[in-house]
Amino acid sequence: MMEKWRITQRLLRHSSKLLFDRPLNRSASHISAFRFASGHRETFVERGLGSASSIKYRRFGSAATEIQRNTSFSTLNVDDISYFKEILGEKNVIQDKDVLLNANTDWMRKYKGSSKLLLQPKTTNEVSQILKYCNSRRLAVVPQGGNTGLVGGSVPVFDEVKSCHVIINVGSMNNIIAFDKVSGTLVCEAGCILENLVSFLDDQGFIMPLDLGAKGSCQIGGNVSTNAGGLRLVRYGSLHGNVLGLEVVLANGDVLDMLGTLRKDNTGYDLKHLFIGSEGSLGIVTKVSILTPLKLSSVNLAFLACKDYFSCQKLLLEAKSKLGEILSAFEFLDNQAMDLVRYFWLEKLKVLNHLEGARNPLHSSMHNFYVLIETTGSNESYDREKIEAFLLRSMEDGLISDGVLAQDINQASSFWRIREGVPEALMKAGAVYKYDLSLPVEKMYDLVEEMRLRLGQTAKVIGYGHLGDGNLHLNISAPQYNDAIFAQIEPYVYEWTSKHRGSISAEHGLGLMKANKIFYSKSPETVQVMGSIKKLLDPNGILNPYKVLPYLLSSYH
Ligand code: FAD
Ligand code: MLT
Ligand code: ZN
Repeated sequence: MMEKWRITQRLLRHSSKLLFDRPLNRSASHISAFRFASGHRETFVERGLGSASSIKYRRFGSAATEIQRNTSFSTLNVDDISYFKEILGEKNVIQDKDVLLNANTDWMRKYKGSSKLLLQPKTTNEVSQILKYCNSRRLAVVPQGGNTGLVGGSVPVFDEVKSCHVIINVGSMNNIIAFDKVSGTLVCEAGCILENLVSFLDDQGFIMPLDLGAKGSCQIGGNVSTNAGGLRLVRYGSLHGNVLGLEVVLANGDVLDMLGTLRKDNTGYDLKHLFIGSEGSLGIVTKVSILTPLKLSSVNLAFLACKDYFSCQKLLLEAKSKLGEILSAFEFLDNQAMDLVRYFWLEKLKVLNHLEGARNPLHSSMHNFYVLIETTGSNESYDREKIEAFLLRSMEDGLISDGVLAQDINQASSFWRIREGVPEALMKAGAVYKYDLSLPVEKMYDLVEEMRLRLGQTAKVIGYGHLGDGNLHLNISAPQYNDAIFAQIEPYVYEWTSKHRGSISAEHGLGLMKANKIFYSKSPETVQVMGSIKKLLDPNGILNPYKVLPYLLSSYH
């Protein structure tokens, strides 16, 4: 067993060098992925109610969304533009077509708005003035961060006929305000890019409590607003635990200063939690105070193969009990996901002209499942011994059929790129129906298998995700969007999830895609209270209309 272990290790180390040891600027590669992602298909269906009041809806496969336009919004006019220029300065009032095209299109190229205006405030006061004005004029507002969201929450809807949406991006508010080494509290503006915060903290000997594949582009304000989960939630918990304070601007321009830095503060309702995960529907997050863990010196990453899903589950249980406090990530992907990534890399290498002579580590025999296990601790020899003993035992018990432990940081990042590369590879493969589900771990993969039976040869069903958190990313990949395929997927996936008491949004949010599907995971009474909160904080419904809540609960005529 051990021999196999070591051989694989050497083999993979060699191949990894050839494949991945070129300098990889992670943020740049993500950004280029965003720019070049393709495979977007859309069909606009117009219903004949006369052009002024015509109702359009888009069918984007997974986002077949029928919504009614809120006719109470005003149309942007020249006076509005002049006002915004006055408070923000000319250059922060963007009307450039190319910039607007990007701002109107989501990362998946599935959702596309036609807003004519992007505003880039530099201070909380500017955000406040913009919102106050938009509220009084009844102009709809879309708060946008890095625009990496996957549920159509970050782009406008319905502006094809009448331009009433203003996109507000706080990307220019990207200062680090304070960092306290003793408590590990970071206070920063909401437009800070996650990866920049990671670099800043690295110099201080700390890390961010969240990490995700989009870190090169997403903003901390966007992360908070989506309550992003990511790769290390299993260790550091959710943003509801790590965010200590927020500054938020409400729809009427009022600034809520909740920017505390205390671990403990039980004075009344903890309102910041309303904004964590509210996807821009209750206010614009302008500042964030967040608890950051110390950077520990010893990190190990194992890339493992398992013969079946049952072994992955048992491995998770074993990892929790044997690795305990040092376990910092437990991710999985199935062979269909691996196949896509492998193909994607081959294509990329061909394009880069590097294929010749490269030994692709993913060429070795395919396994059914792959698991990444990361440990983070403070004692190198102890941690290494611990993970090696765990891996050896797991191989002996037949839970792992093959595996490799990263020998250096380059190798570790190359393993992470396999897992983090799945969404990008899916985009390259064509149309993708994306679902982000919380399910009991033992049931999770049954859905993938059932979907394969339902869909037969018409589409590929891919399963990957944050196994340690019970979060499945179920993705269905087809050459193009197709109504027949879609009819096989929805509402089946939601009904199945609901039947197993899962959540239809584990970490991506509801956005536009699932605003009307909320009842699969929340009771009518709960949703009603959400509607009341929305009405209280945003009585004119200007903040991110048509998103998060069903139309009637978020729009008032
Ligand atoms: P955007 O996409 O711009 O916006 C997302 C939502 O937040 C929108 O509803 C928007 O209106 C709102 N919003 C943005 N900024 C603000 C603000 N300042 N105030 C109020 N509302 C705001 N997500 C995960 O949870 N885990 C993952 O592992 C993960 N991996 C990903 C990997 C890839 C390759 C990609 C493309 C996406 C991934 N995502 C993941 C989804 C996405 O990156 C996260 O949801 C991220 O938190 C969004 O941040 P953003 O700045 O891009 O926000
Ligand atoms: C991930 O875990 O890779 C992200 O949530 C993105 C996705 O689901 O595709
Ligand atoms: Zn995820």
